Amino acid sequence: MLVFEHKVALSQHLTTLKKPNTTIGFVPTMGALHEGHLSLLRNSLQNNALTVISIFVNPTQFNNPEDLEKYPRTLEADLEKIKRVSEDIIVYAPTVQDIYEGNTQSKAYDFDGLEHQMEGKFRPGHFDGVGTVVKKLFEIVQPDFAYFGEKDFQQLQIVKKLVAKEKLSVTIVGCPIFREANGLAMSSRNERLSDHERKEAGIIFKTLQEIKSLFPNKSTSALKKRVAKVFQNHPLFQLEYVEIADEATLQTCIRKSKNKTYRIFIAVFANNVRLIDTISLN
Ligand code: PAJ
Repeated sequence: MLVFEHKVALSQHLTTLKKPNTTIGFVPTMGALHEGHLSLLRNSLQNNALTVISIFVNPTQFNNPEDLEKYPRTLEADLEKIKRVSEDIIVYAPTVQDIYEGNTQSKAYDFDGLEHQMEGKFRPGHFDGVGTVVKKLFEIVQPDFAYFGEKDFQQLQIVKKLVAKEKLSVTIVGCPIFREANGLAMSSRNERLSDHERKEAGIIFKTLQEIKSLFPNKSTSALKKRVAKVFQNHPLFQLEYVEIADEATLQTCIRKSKNKTYRIFIAVFANNVRLIDTISLN
């Protein structure tokens, strides 16, 4: 397994390996890898001759300095996990300097309004940071396919928009959410939960499933109130937002339309650990 710290060496290596009919699959991550990340890698390995994973905690997408500082950095353990999936995976684990060359600034993007909803509202500047780093990573790796999890559904839609707007020649593949046994969506941040919080956090997925079963017969405002009630005065979890939105535009669903598909999105705090989840409602 080859690990590159520098983009120049990585792209030289990829140029020597790339043949006319070989495709490059790419999985961008911030490390602290779990089965969700590894499922993206397996998807890429099945469909491409070459698979590249990046491990980079991107400073420009963190609106909260404490979250950036506390973000788990576990490179050695990550490399072990990748090796167990396949020795053929190429790893790019750069420094901030290699990516940003001394200018840690995000570009200001217009994602046609996708960036103003949910995570965009509660994490100002977050999607500018994501767009900036993903574009840089695509320029370095030059992938044919890039794999993103539905766990961050808004990010997935925004990356698709970035590709369309900037006319990039990469196909974005969305992959299903991997969950722990109690339904909690796997996340690098789960490591920061206490055992008790982690066990009880199954309530998030359980609540989303309940809303899905009620969705055909109830108004979206009644459903959102129901979620708020579950978390009202909860001893462990505080609701930051719940939203029911059109999957394509991410606009709030006020009245359901037959020819649209909808999703519920939720963000919850357990102390200072922020957890997000989403499921399709159709
Ligand atoms: P990170 O949070 O490390 O996630 C990397 C990829 O793994 C994302 O596409 C995310 O949606 C996916 N993922 C995370 N948890 C998952 C789960 N439980 N099941 C399936 N997929 C899951 O998302 C980022 O990093 C960054 O914003 C990044 C795109 C790398 C840009 O810095």
